[in-house]
Amino acid sequence: MGTGKLVHSGLFLTTGLIVISAMSVELKDSPACSFPAIYNFGDSNSDTGGISASFVPISAPYGEGFFHKPAGRDSDGRLIIDFIAERLNLPYLSAYLNSLGTNYRHGANFATGGSTIRRQNETIFEYGISPFSLDIQIVQFDQFKARATQLYQQANTSMERSKLPVPEEFSKALYTFDIGQNDLSVGFRKLSADQLHAAIPDIVNQLASAVQNLYQQGGRAFWIHNTGPFGCLPVQLFYKHNLPPGYLDQYGCVKDQNDMAIEFNKQLKDRVIKLRTELPEAAITYVDTYAAKYGLISSAKTEGFTDPLKICCGYHVNDTHIWCGNKGSANGKEVYGASCEKPSVYVSWDGVHYAEAANHWVANHILNGSFTDPPIPITLACYRH
Ligand SMILES: *[C@@H]1O[C@H](CO)[C@@H](O)[C@H](O)[C@H]1NC(C)=O
Ligand SMILES: *[C@@H]1O[C@H](CO)[C@@H](O)[C@H](O)[C@H]1NC(C)=O
Ligand SMILES: *[C@@H]1O[C@H](CO)[C@@H](O)[C@H](O)[C@H]1NC(C)=O
Ligand SMILES: *[C@@H]1O[C@H](CO)[C@@H](O)[C@H](O)[C@H]1NC(C)=O
Repeated sequence: MGTGKLVHSGLFLTTGLIVISAMSVELKDSPACSFPAIYNFGDSNSDTGGISASFVPISAPYGEGFFHKPAGRDSDGRLIIDFIAERLNLPYLSAYLNSLGTNYRHGANFATGGSTIRRQNETIFEYGISPFSLDIQIVQFDQFKARATQLYQQANTSMERSKLPVPEEFSKALYTFDIGQNDLSVGFRKLSADQLHAAIPDIVNQLASAVQNLYQQGGRAFWIHNTGPFGCLPVQLFYKHNLPPGYLDQYGCVKDQNDMAIEFNKQLKDRVIKLRTELPEAAITYVDTYAAKYGLISSAKTEGFTDPLKICCGYHVNDTHIWCGNKGSANGKEVYGASCEKPSVYVSWDGVHYAEAANHWVANHILNGSFTDPPIPITLACYRH
């Protein structure tokens, strides 16, 4: 077992004596980190209201399960980022872009549905790609931090301060990432496999730059999800007929797409290992969400789920696909993309996004360290391995 080093050197004031702690302790015996806040960057897998605030709100039946109303999330209920907040005893994150009912005392969420790591040249109205790519999310964080700090210092009452982050806590926060899936989806749409493969180092490097930027301004604890099994999203099988042998794997997932995701993840993990040497005080946890999600898909039945390629919400019969919550026509009749009876046994909520039960399963399996490097629970993610 390696030794862990506490990342935040604490300043302890004891009877006129200032002691700077440089503790070296066994990781597994360390006290839980007390993260005061979470700052999240990502796409629809972790958007808690950004795209709904900025564009057309996500409508019912999204959110019907846990929140009992649309809640800015692409699911029937909570996302993995919500389960992260629960695990760290922090409230759900307000979206930075939301203008009403927000509270940023314990962090903010910069993720938006459709976000990519790299800037794209398309509008959201074409293929749903968000204008808030990762570099823009970082710019938004910079502005958030500067303005929140200024407002905090100018505030005269604890009431005024209560919805703002405490400036000193930015360096003690957990910085989380779940982004890259849409860089692959744009790549599959616009590039050849060779071109996409060749673009991966740049995509991964831009994610690394975001981490470096946050480190340079004091961030120390980073929790980075890799990308999921893209080829297992049921939407990949829409309008697909007479597939050649070997196109799908044993679970019915598109093999070439998963292979590209695996390659992205391999390069991301290598880059994270390099980042650890570039950023000597950073505690960076690499989270293999691919393995967790694929693990769920491959053992869906024994884990109490139905066929993982079945979609809970929407109308999907033969080649007619009406998106969850939308109306359309099938065989001349109006049909509605309704929710299924029992979302809690579905892996896929709408063909692209996971149902809450699946998010909960994945969260339970990644947050205790079973799928992370180093293999530590999120509650110890402030320690450098
Ligand atoms: C977007 O367009 C600019 C200018 O045409 C180009 O340089 C850039 O590579 C494009 N970006 C992407 C992701 O296609
Ligand atoms: C706090 O009080 C000072 C001095 O009375 C005043 O100038 C300032 O505008 C107040 N700040 C806020 C946010 O109300
Ligand atoms: C779907 O396709 C099957 C097999 O071709 C056919 O029997 C069925 O009637 C179709 N369903 C609808 C609603 O079109
Ligand atoms: C983490 O939790 C999952 C789900 O409860 C469990 O199967 C797994 O054994 C746990 N792993 C560790 C390292 O505690």
